[in-house]
Amino acid sequence: MKFGEQLKSEELEVMRRAQNIVFVTGAGMSQESGIPTFRGNDGLWRNYDPMKLATIDAFWNDPKLVWEWYNERRQGMLVAKPNAGHYAVAKFEEYVDVTVLTQNIDGLHQRAKSSHVLELHGNIIRTRCTECDFADKQAKISSIPPMCKCGAILRPDVVWFGEELPQDVWQDAMISACKCDIMIVVGTSLAVSPANMLPIYAQQNGATIIEVNPEETAMSEDIDYTIRDTAASYLPGLVDTFGKLRSRF
Ligand code: APR
Repeated sequence: MKFGEQLKSEELEVMRRAQNIVFVTGAGMSQESGIPTFRGNDGLWRNYDPMKLATIDAFWNDPKLVWEWYNERRQGMLVAKPNAGHYAVAKFEEYVDVTVLTQNIDGLHQRAKSSHVLELHGNIIRTRCTECDFADKQAKISSIPPMCKCGAILRPDVVWFGEELPQDVWQDAMISACKCDIMIVVGTSLAVSPANMLPIYAQQNGATIIEVNPEETAMSEDIDYTIRDTAASYLPGLVDTFGKLRSRF
């Protein structure tokens, strides 16, 4: 029986008491929008070796190759639409404070109208200059690699392996994780640090942790509820249950 499907007293209590919910999302959240995951069964990494592509060294070694890879993913993300899971996450805001901590760079949570999204790994639509302060939120890529007016190469505004997360975003993410009542971890293998620390911070601070993932992860055994289901299949039912329960007050 999945969390929230049969309202056991313990689960009712968790949902009743919750003042704020934090979602930690990864590539699996957008899988049902047609965007491949990295390490799951349809892993993008089977065709490419992102360790060779998603690094600053790879970029300087072959900016055209890295940009071709990002541009292909960018096109796919631009035409993708939020799925029922993204919309369910946004709908939780009708009942409770919600923060979304996402490792995804596709912007689909924002397009589903989640209002408080922290992008831990940047955003693939944005570009920024490797030399000057130039940054572009809606960049059109007309040539590869794209060039800045200053003459330097532009890069995707994403966090590569070996790079630090934007410090202000990371600070806010840690604070949100530490003070939430429920953390729902959706579609992430929890293989990448430091994002995979967020459920640990939440757990150490007494939050109930729910994982939604069709496959087991390194944390599955240590958390309160593991739901072997997909984001789009499970989350709409959970938010409906949550709504019914909360509207009784
Ligand atoms: N619903 C929920 N979970 C799913 C679904 C789905 N429809 N489909 C796949 N999954 C799960 C997989 O079982 C897997 O555990 O999503 C997870 C995806 O894991 P990864 O591909 O490792 O993605 P993620 O955890 O986001 O990767 C972290 O690594 O490559 C870097 O920067 C990149 O942000 C990325 C980070």
